[in-house]
Order: sequence, then structure tokens, then C-alpha cells
Amino acid sequence: MYLSRFLSIHALWVTVSSVMQPYPLVWGHYDVCKTQIYTEEGKVWDYMACQPESTDMTKYLKVKLDPPDITCGDPPETFCAMGNPYMCNNECDASTPELAHPPELMFDFEGRHPSTFWQSATWKEYPKPLQVNITLSWSKTIELTDNIVITFESGRPDQMILEKSLDYGRTWQPYQYYATDCLDAFHMDPKSVKDLSQHTVLEIICTEEYSTGYMTNSKIIHFEIKDRFAFFAGPWLRNMASLYGQLDTTKKLRDFFTVTDLRIRLLRPAVGEIFVDELHLARYFYAISDIKVHGRCKCNLHATVCVYDNSKLTCECEHNTTGPDCGKCKKNYQGRPWSPGSYLPIPKGTANTCIPSISSIGRYSWCTCYHECARKR
Ligand SMILES: *[C@@H]1O[C@H](CO)[C@@H](O)[C@H](O)[C@H]1NC(C)=O
Ligand SMILES: *[C@@H]1O[C@H](CO)[C@@H](O)[C@H](O)[C@H]1NC(C)=O
Repeated sequence: MYLSRFLSIHALWVTVSSVMQPYPLVWGHYDVCKTQIYTEEGKVWDYMACQPESTDMTKYLKVKLDPPDITCGDPPETFCAMGNPYMCNNECDASTPELAHPPELMFDFEGRHPSTFWQSATWKEYPKPLQVNITLSWSKTIELTDNIVITFESGRPDQMILEKSLDYGRTWQPYQYYATDCLDAFHMDPKSVKDLSQHTVLEIICTEEYSTGYMTNSKIIHFEIKDRFAFFAGPWLRNMASLYGQLDTTKKLRDFFTVTDLRIRLLRPAVGEIFVDELHLARYFYAISDIKVHGRCKCNLHATVCVYDNSKLTCECEHNTTGPDCGKCKKNYQGRPWSPGSYLPIPKGTANTCIPSISSIGRYSWCTCYHECARKR
């Protein structure tokens, strides 16, 4: 029942986006690449900027842990209960499904009780730091559209860095620092996103908002995309036109929300007291039940469909562009340099289609290029 409903909505959506509708159904959502219009010369295509829908991107990622053997349970070990650090007979055993906590459990469906989660080995080797890198890779540029939300099953770490890559993991930049004490951990003054403004929105901050303690109830860490959008679009994101206008004209801003990979660097587990309790090191570990990443394929405003095939995301390019991100003109359509579509003017934007190469015009019928050819005559 639910599935068939979903399918029919999906089918409708595909029809709308690929065939014709007089206008985009939703104002300024850029969900149609072209429509047919009538002119004195008959039916012609009208092209516009378009982009894929925003969706749950965790379905399409690969996850990698460093060190690779950091997941608990191989060999089996005991750890202390989350709410009660002196009840230390819980077991993690990788070879028993009910007692195993593999990384996939960070991306499965939550809403079940108890929740399922990934868990690291405990801090047996204290004082050697217990550090874990969790790298999420899409092998595709994606644009974040909502907050990144990490839900811990353990206490939230005392120190953590969220990093991003824009070049498939070759280079990394910090996105946000998290610590119980920013000055001590990273030599940074603590800040909150609310301290930023339109002019400082690209600043990389250290926040203490999400790192309070071992025993608190709150288990969630955010990377605040929406608060940053709100500097341009207003508190309820009502004025998306203003945001789109800024994204169009400021490449740095667009790149800020674009990633190919994310890395969560867990640097120090929740301790909660000044001293680590060396007699109960099985109290200290990381456990994550859920990671949310919402975004869309970056197709440079030249596609509404992004397909997942052979574990790879690819834009289905329109406007005679090609490449995984529609980042260049198709062969024989290089009559002017490639450029991305533009969100402006609102609501339909500008397609900036690729046009036939001069040398190949003769080989195509006049009507494939009637605008350009009419101008040249
Ligand atoms: C995590 O990644 C960083 C680079 O982003 C690297 O310097 C560090 O050694 C890695 N840590 C682990 C535990 O692999
Ligand atoms: C792209 O090229 C095809 C022919 O291969 C043509 O029919 C179509 O109108 C072109 N689209 C755009 C947006 O220029």
C-alpha cells in the first residue's frame, strides 16, 4: 500500500520533470529542465535551470573507519552500561549478531527500541589517545541542504572535529570543531553559529554547545546548515530567492555547502570528570546510533535526475552538457564555453545551455539551433 503510493508519486514526479508542464509546480524549486512553449514558429523548447530533489544521502555513501579494527567485539569485550558506569558486564561480540555493533548500524532505520548503533573498542590503552576517524565518501560532489545530525548512544565526545573534502578525499578542511573546552582542546574561543552573520558565515568555529558531559540526556551533535542559510533566507527560510541569489554570485558560499566526503574525527571520548577513572576504562568508548546527511547531487543546474547505478551517483545531464556533474559541454556542442546554470532570475533561472559547435552547424538541421542561426543570418 505504502510502496505503491510512493511509486505513483515518484512516477508522477518523473513525468513532470522530464516531459512538459507550463511552469514549475513549486515556485523557485528548479525541478524542470525544459518545457514546450508555443511561438509564431510553432512549438519550441524553453530551457531553464534545474536541480535534483534534496534527499537522504546516507543511502549512497561508503563508510571507512580508521583504525580499521577499532569496532568493538573482535575479540569480545565487556563495557560499562551507558547510564551506570559501575555496571560493567555488557558484552560486545562481533561474531554474535545480537551483540555486534558494526558501522552499518549508524545508517540503518532508527525508530526501533532499543536503537541499533556502531560502537568502538573501549579505552583499554589509556593514556594513549582513543581516536577514530569515520570517513563518509560519495565519490560525487553533493550539496548539503539540511543539518548534519550525529546521534550518539554513548556520551558525546569531549573533542571532535568534523572535516570535509571537495576533491574526493585528497585534501581535507575542518568544517567545525566540537569540545567541552575549545580553548584547551583547539586553542580557539568558543562560538556558536548564532554569533555569526552574513559576513562571517564561512568562518570555521569551535562550539561547546554539543559536548556537555558524560551523563547528560542530550546525545545529538549538529552541523548547522539551516542556521547558515537563514542568514540569507530569513529565520523560516521564507526568502529562498535571496539565498539562491547569493549562492549564484558567491562561489565560496556555494563551495562551503558542497562536499564529496565528510570525516568525523573522534579525538577524546566523553569523560565527564576531570580525571579518567583508570580502574574502569571500560566506561569510555564511542557509540553512534545515527548519522543524517541531507543533500542533492551537484549537477550545476543542468539536471533534475541523479541516478545511483553500480554504487555510483551520476547526474542525468540536460542542456547538452555531460560529465558526472554536468560540468562540460557535449561533443559538437561547444559553440561557447560551458557555464553552470543560474538561479537568477527567480523563479526559473537561466539554463545556459551548450550550443552547437560552429564547425558542426552545417551537419545539423536549422531548427536545432534556430536562435543562434537566426542571429547569424
Ligand atoms: C584521521 O585523519 C587525519 C587527517 O584528516 C589524520 O591526520 C589522523 O592521523 C587520522 N587518525 C586516525 C586515528 O586514523
Ligand atoms: C541538445 O541536442 C539535441 C540533439 O542532439 C537537441 O535536440 C536539443 O534541442 C539540444 N538541447 C539543448 C538544450 O540545446
